Parts: sequence; structure tokens; C-alpha cells
Amino acid sequence: MISSLFSRKPIAQLLAEGENPNGLKRALGAGDLIMLAIGAVIGAGIFGAIGSAAAGQTDAAGHVIRVGAGPALVVSFILLGAACALAGLCYAELASMIPQAGSAYAYTYATLGEFVAWIIGWDLILEYAVGNVAVAISWGDYFKSLFNGWITFPYWLTTGYRTALLSSDPKVHGMIASAPHLGPIPILINVPAFAIVMFITWLLLLGVRESTRANNVMVAVKLIVLALFIVMGMQHINTANYHPFAPNGFAGIHQGAAIVFFAYIGFDAISTAAEETKNPQRNLPIGILGGLAICTVIYVIIGAVLTGMVPSQDLGKAADPLSYALNATGMTSIAKIVALGAVFSMAAVLLVFQYGQPRIFFAMGRDGLLPPWAARVSKKTRVPVVTTLITGIVVALWSLFGDAGETYDLTNIGTLFAFALVCIGVIVLRYTDPERPRPFRVPFVHFVGIGGALLCVFVMKGLPTLAWVRFGWWLLIGLVLYFLYGYRHSTLRRGTGPVPMDPPAPIAK
Ligand code: ALA
Repeated sequence: MISSLFSRKPIAQLLAEGENPNGLKRALGAGDLIMLAIGAVIGAGIFGAIGSAAAGQTDAAGHVIRVGAGPALVVSFILLGAACALAGLCYAELASMIPQAGSAYAYTYATLGEFVAWIIGWDLILEYAVGNVAVAISWGDYFKSLFNGWITFPYWLTTGYRTALLSSDPKVHGMIASAPHLGPIPILINVPAFAIVMFITWLLLLGVRESTRANNVMVAVKLIVLALFIVMGMQHINTANYHPFAPNGFAGIHQGAAIVFFAYIGFDAISTAAEETKNPQRNLPIGILGGLAICTVIYVIIGAVLTGMVPSQDLGKAADPLSYALNATGMTSIAKIVALGAVFSMAAVLLVFQYGQPRIFFAMGRDGLLPPWAARVSKKTRVPVVTTLITGIVVALWSLFGDAGETYDLTNIGTLFAFALVCIGVIVLRYTDPERPRPFRVPFVHFVGIGGALLCVFVMKGLPTLAWVRFGWWLLIGLVLYFLYGYRHSTLRRGTGPVPMDPPAPIAK
């Protein structure tokens, strides 16, 4: 039994499954990949999570959840850039060898076997669906900020129950008391976050796809608003705010990195474009590392400007820290423009991840690890209707009640775990399948793979204990589901071959 848990899917089979009937052309160059990476990466992490990373976080009872990095946040960003660069190289090798829907799930199936692949697939729900809960909540915060001063939305309709409950702001207790109650339970719901997820789901059901042109427009919007923030913010830097530089020493830098890691999630998604990349040996690493380098530089500059504009500890007061700093320094109109840009940027991130989750379910359904309906695709639009709808409803409902901080932590721990396994997987495959052509080979693979895995685990260790406990529960639930269903239905172990299904439409057009 034990050995069958680790049955590995032959890469030849993965390649055959990945064959696209439309014959994807190798059309993407390094520049396109960089644009795709920036499109998927810049979102709630830099617009929202950065506040708690700089300021730290306490719960309603005043217990410290994490200590903040202060202005040393820039060091956190550099640390994360290095960890992601190593993981990114490993993703690039596996993606170029195994260009298939399902990303880390598919790579693990070929390298570490079915059981670990299931764990990764289950874990990727944390990256995609749960990550989108955080993005939706942050979207809602900037949506409110956009109308700030013009419309006052009732607190109880724009704040999730968990956010209100965890808030250490004394004013919030009054808001909770004055919210309508259902018996003893206050009604606290985040309608904007719920609405944006349902809207994106509706677009996806219509068959809307990420297009490279729309992505380029979105990247331009992001870069313009962030440049505007930097240029205007630089004029309001008070150097006194840089002292002390690291108020909580290395613990602050470490714990800050663990939450703001969210800002880097998504660059792995471009590895799935390997099949469509011209000269992948050259362009994939340039695309992944170039995109990462550009984002790291932007993040470091934003971190330096933001912590120079206002005292770092104030950044935890607002869920929209960039707008908060602009308002606090009297630039209210610029704050509105940045909020508008944030709303567009985060909607684009929501689309990418809300689109990606059903494809992972598709890959798992085709392998028999999920029921066949998970791999069903509409004949007309090629949209995986059922899983798109389920993902949409679950993410929307969670956004209605959830808290961004809690979901950042859960997403980060799950994603870092997946990154670490990919780093190990690339080394394993060098031994188990050395002859397989590798359109891109990681240089110094032992150093990069082991170093990447260790750095990811190190960043994970900066997350609060509660995140580890929840992650443990998540894995346990996954384990139970695997033995109840996937173990018995796996097409690989039953030798029946994949469930015959049309693949869903490709992500970019
Ligand atoms: N990196 C993406 C964001 O920050 C997930 O929204």
C-alpha cells in the first residue's frame, strides 16, 4: 500500500495529456513573460498586507500576533526576492519539462508521487481560492477608500465579522454594538468583497479570458499608480520616521516578510506559459527572474517611501495603507487616484486566480483524485462551469465574513510549502529521470533547490502559530478526503488512464 501511495505519473503521459488540440504556438518572448508576471503579482500584497508587515498586529485582547518590520521592511522584500528567485528557477525547469495545466500539482505527481501531489493540489486551494479571499477583502477596503468623504457606507455592511472581531481599535467595539443583531450575533458583512467575487465569477462563466492585451493595460495601470505614489510620496518623507530602522530587530524583518510574501504570489503562474514560450531555455528564466526583479525593486521603493511618509506603527491602523499615508500627508486627491488604480489592479489579480483554481480542480478530477464533475468543461465555452461556480461561491461567502490578515497567513503558509516541494522535486527528478529533455535547466541545481526549499521554510517559520495550527488542520482534512475518495478512484493506481475530458480553454489568448 505504502509504495502505491507514491506512484509517479509517467512524464510521457503528462505530456500527452497536455497536448493542446489548438496547437499552442510558441509566441511569447521574455518581455511578454515579464508583463504576465507583473500582471499576476502586484495586488493586495503591496496595497494591503504591507501595512501589517510594517506595523505588526495585535488582536482584540491586545496579544501580539506579529511584530512589525518598521522601515526595515525593505530588507524583508529583498529576502523574499531571493527566496522567490530560487523557487522561480525550479518552477521554470519543471514547467519547461512538463508544460501542463495544474502547475505544481502536475510536477509533483511526476516527481514525488500521487500522495504528495494530492497534498499539493489540496494545498494550492490555499494559494488560489483562499488567496483570493484576501484580495477581495483588500479590494473592498480600497473601494471604500475611493468613496471616502463622498459616501459613508455603514460599517456593518462593509466589514466582515472576523475583521471586526479581531480589531484592536476601541472604536470598533461601538460599531459592533450598534450593528443589527441576529439574536446575540451582530451582523457584520463585507458586501463589496462579496460582490466583486460574484462579478468576476459571472465574467468567467461567460467565457471571459485573460488576454495579453488586457493584461498589458492592467500592468500599465498598476505601474502608473505606483509610480505616482512614489513620486508624490517622496516629497513628503520625514526622515525622522526612519528611526529606529528596525524597531523589532530581525524578528520584525522575519515576521514582516512572512505576511508580505503575499505580494510575491503569482509569479509561479507564469511558469504555466512554458508551452507557449519561444526559446524557453533563454526566455523562461529571464521572464521569471526579470519579473521578480522588477517587482522586488518596486516593492523596496514603495516600502521605503511609505515608511518615510508616516510612522510605521500607524500603518497598521488602516486596511488601505497607501491611501492612508497619502491622506495623512494631505494628498487626498492622489489618494483617490491610487485607490482607483488599486481597485483595477486587484480585480485583475482576482480574475487570474479565480480562473486558475478550476484548472487545478480539472487536473485533479481528470486523475480521479476528485469526482469526474470537477473535470467537466462546457462544450460551447470550454469553461469548467461547476468548479468555477463552486470556487466563486465559496470565495465570495468567505470574503463576506472573513478577515484579510488571517487569510494572508493561511495562503502564505500553503504557497510557501508548495514552493518548497517544487524546489525538492526538481532535484529528485534529476536523479529519477536524468535523460528527459529539459528545455530549461536550473544551474547549480543542488544549491538552488536546497537553498530555495530552506529559505521557503524559513519564511514560513515567521508566520504566527495559529497559521501553523490551521495549516495542520487543513492538511489533515485533505488526508481524510484522499483516503475516502482519491485513493480509491485514482486512475493511475487503477490503471484506467485519465478520465477522458476536453481540456479547458487556455488562460491567455
Ligand atoms: N501577489 C498577489 C497580490 O498581492 C496575489 O494580490
